[in-house]
Amino acid sequence: MNAGICGLGSALPAQVITNEDLMATLDTSDEWIVRRTGIQERRWLSGSETVADLTTTACLQALADAGRSAADVDYVIVSTITADRITPGVAPEVAFRIGAHSAAAYDVAAACAGFIYALDQAAALIESGRAQLVLVCGADAMSRIVDKSDRTTTVIFGDGVGAVLVASGDYQFGLQPFELCSDGSLGDLLYVDNDERLIRMQGQEIYRNAVRCMAEATRTALTRAGMTLDDVDLFVSHQANARIIESTARELGLPDERVAMAISHTANTSSASVPLALAYCEREGLLHAGDRIVLAAFGAGLVWGAGVLTWKEEARVAA
Ligand SMILES: CC(C)(COP(=O)(O)OP(=O)(O)OC[C@H]1O[C@@H](n2cnc3c(N)ncnc32)[C@H](O)[C@@H]1OP(=O)(O)O)[C@@H](O)C(=O)NCCC(=O)NCCS
Repeated sequence: MNAGICGLGSALPAQVITNEDLMATLDTSDEWIVRRTGIQERRWLSGSETVADLTTTACLQALADAGRSAADVDYVIVSTITADRITPGVAPEVAFRIGAHSAAAYDVAAACAGFIYALDQAAALIESGRAQLVLVCGADAMSRIVDKSDRTTTVIFGDGVGAVLVASGDYQFGLQPFELCSDGSLGDLLYVDNDERLIRMQGQEIYRNAVRCMAEATRTALTRAGMTLDDVDLFVSHQANARIIESTARELGLPDERVAMAISHTANTSSASVPLALAYCEREGLLHAGDRIVLAAFGAGLVWGAGVLTWKEEARVAA
């Protein structure tokens, strides 16, 4: 048995923050933000809204999309660096709220690359026979940790959640082994420390490394899967900055029509960005069952990676 994605869900906070809204408190402009990042607006949590609320909605959607029951879920894995509390994590609350009462549930922290790290864990659990059905969520509220007086970070981050349901089955292709990497020597380029609890970032260095790392990991993941870029229907990378996505695609030689660009209304939602981009592409008719796709992500650590899979592939024999 191997692993395949069979359901997708997403959720965004109600509150929309436009570039004009940020101009009220920051020395910035809509023109600068759009030209340098491709971002027009982002969503931020407000009132009593929590990461667990959004994650619950996204998970219920993913289950409904796949026509599966929460009672059958073996693991709920939530990738987040902005959980509602330091402990417990988001995952146990979500497992309880969706009715996954027999599931193991835990959070993972690999910053903006966390979703693909968690997805690889889900595949490993399934391939080893330890699980049949796993919910994998990317869930972050970056508005909680941006310094609202820092124009270089406040404008680029947003909040949101995406979730996929990963199922065991006899898939012809399924989820191929992911290429996951780290380089702790560059940890000071992007961090949040315990005292301050605010994002500090060297933007240009992060930019350069993001392009290099995502392009390299993509090539390696494709080689492992016995594929070339010509076989890829859609490249779905971390949505950090439109220019990072464009530069990475250019480095790989991928044309615009095979590159997911879903940043304009959500901004950089950290580990939620890849599943939110998947949801956007599916909604817009750019992603179809059976498509061969590459996921790539990059984040603080540094941590990054890429993986190849067939989108919503039909299992020859379902588990
Ligand atoms: C942050 C980022 C958007 C800045 O864009 P940039 O084109 O590199 O801009 P620079 O840092 O060179 O700054 C250029 C100028 O714009 C200014 N600037 C920065 N943010 C600004 C803003 N929001 N509005 C207006 N001006 C801004 C800078 O202060 C600088 O001014 P100066 O020339 O007078 O010093 C870009 O570096 C980036 O996206 N980096 C990666 C960030 C990221 O993805 N982080 C998460 C990784 S998971």
